[in-house]
Amino acid sequence: MTLVRSVRPVRLAGAHCVLRELDDADVVPLHAMLADPRVFERVLDDQLPSLDEVRDVVPAWRDEAGGEPRPAYRLAAVEGDRLVGMGTLTVESTQHRRGEIGYVLAADRWGRGLGTEVAGLLLRLAFEQVGLHRVEATTRPDHVASCRVLEKVGMRREGVSRDHLLVRGHWWDSVRYAILATDR
Ligand SMILES: CC(C)(COP(=O)(O)OP(=O)(O)OC[C@H]1O[C@@H](n2cnc3c(N)ncnc32)[C@H](O)[C@@H]1OP(=O)(O)O)[C@@H](O)C(=O)NCCC(=O)NCCS
Repeated sequence: MTLVRSVRPVRLAGAHCVLRELDDADVVPLHAMLADPRVFERVLDDQLPSLDEVRDVVPAWRDEAGGEPRPAYRLAAVEGDRLVGMGTLTVESTQHRRGEIGYVLAADRWGRGLGTEVAGLLLRLAFEQVGLHRVEATTRPDHVASCRVLEKVGMRREGVSRDHLLVRGHWWDSVRYAILATDR
């Protein structure tokens, strides 16, 4: 018997933004955010997404969200009506009650605490609603802002994996952070 719950729809409010399910109206601002060179430089994708790819993937993610158990939560971060970011919680294992978080904020919103807020909301979702025991995150050791976000939400640095990521022809080390339900 698994204790992991499928939560839908998700709506979580922080001090500055709300995390909610993505809808079709998010496609254009989501593409603009992901295609911004300042964002693309920091993410682990190999290619810039096209508008058509984002238009296709949003309904595919909606279908995925209907799975039982729900395998992933790919959520819009909005300030009022404006999409300012995206946060993801992937349920890696229901048996082991383990998941992983990720986040992207629009470059013109960086440095205002939103990354920390979105990561904190994802952990609330993971522990208080989905019922996970352990949540992990992976970033590059030189990604100071992302490492700081993870530390600020209470995640612990567990170790570096050498040449763990091949991104646009370059090998990168990765650093793993994690937090347990019992750490909170
Ligand atoms: C990483 C990212 C989410 C940070 O979001 P943010 O909203 O700027 O983060 P916050 O404002 O909550 O800042 C968190 C901490 O990082 C620090 N920080 C932010 N940008 C920084 C930078 N460029 N260099 C050093 N520290 C930085 C902040 O000062 C803060 O620490 P402090 O409170 O000790 O001062 C954002 O830069 C982003 O979306 N980048 C592109 C996508 C990405 O890299 N995602 C993660 C992939 S692993």
